[in-house]
Amino acid sequence: MNVRTQAPMIPFIDLAAQRKRLGAAIDTAVARVLAHCQFIIGPEVRAFESELADFAGARHAVSCASGTDALVLALRALGIGRGDAVICPSFTFCATAEVAVLVGATPVFVDVHPDTFNIDIAGIPGAVDAAKAAGLTPKAIIPVDLFGLSADHDGIAAAAKAHGLFVIDDAAQGFGATYKGRRLGTFGDLTCTSFFPAKPLGCYGDGGAVLTDDDKVADLLRSIRVHGQGSDKYDNVRIGLASRLDTIQAAVLSEKLKIFPDEIEARDAIAKRYAEGLHDVATVPSVPADLTSVWAQYTIRVAGGGRDALAAALKAEGVPTAIYYPIPLHRQIAYKQYPVGRGGLAASDRLAGEVISLPMHPYLDQPTQARIVDATRRALT
Ligand SMILES: Cc1ncc(COP(=O)(O)O)c(C=O)c1O
Repeated sequence: MNVRTQAPMIPFIDLAAQRKRLGAAIDTAVARVLAHCQFIIGPEVRAFESELADFAGARHAVSCASGTDALVLALRALGIGRGDAVICPSFTFCATAEVAVLVGATPVFVDVHPDTFNIDIAGIPGAVDAAKAAGLTPKAIIPVDLFGLSADHDGIAAAAKAHGLFVIDDAAQGFGATYKGRRLGTFGDLTCTSFFPAKPLGCYGDGGAVLTDDDKVADLLRSIRVHGQGSDKYDNVRIGLASRLDTIQAAVLSEKLKIFPDEIEARDAIAKRYAEGLHDVATVPSVPADLTSVWAQYTIRVAGGGRDALAAALKAEGVPTAIYYPIPLHRQIAYKQYPVGRGGLAASDRLAGEVISLPMHPYLDQPTQARIVDATRRALT
């Protein structure tokens, strides 16, 4: 019998390796919560919020049940709703646009820059025009720090000022990255992040947070996340949500935050080795001067229709890949009726056919990475 031996599949993201490193620290943290039984907004939630705010250099971090809820809370705190337009990229995870619809507003899509995958500042005036032409009031812009790379926050701030827009930074993938030496968390009016397990700073379930320097907005966020509470939860002063971070998840996150800077360094070293090994066979991600990425994904581009063949060749060698994102939002059934900025979305369309993400996590050892690089080179040359 001819038995084909295949190399074992490399994990795309290895949460088990991180779990092993954290070891008893997590067990102890979770056991503490199990002992005091304050499962909702317990002491670990408050402690984690303060650690998170310090980490990002923000005055406030208000945790909640998911990254999607963080964006909803931010929009609600700014009073954005029916008749308002929220400008956002089309080449992103659906939640970025979904939240506009959830609060009754309308997303208006803008293109991204093909080199950074992040919002193309030059497209913002055209999106403002498209919003107005559709009878909407442009109110906010949600830039995304896609794949972990900080967006061009000075450019976004200038465009937002010129058009009177709030800025809500969707840092679900980029939290921990820096722009001109400052960590994401204080760019724009509010910053939102996700603690979904696969995110660079993830928990063991769902979770999210909103960061802001504004005391009043922080109070509003705390009210909205608990049913619009006033002096207590049975004093209801506005319509809100039930969106709290579980105390157990906060306990886990405090432990993970301690090793996060070290993990970011490890991700960066891996990204540098990928770039060295692959820059001559594919378009590797470019990181503009003064910006950093936390490498939520390591996404290369393969032009000329070779992307799917590369995915198949790598799979055959035990190397998993992922396509983020195969269909830009303006082509999705749920979003295709929404306005598109003047200038169109050519880069978003092109990227959807060219991008492919390679395994990326802080515990990817050098031999495994060499295996991935070699297999990719073999498939592309
Ligand atoms: C860019 C972006 N925004 C928002 C979200 C939503 O986060 P969550 O899955 O925690 O709701 C995600 C992650 O899934 C994301 O990648």
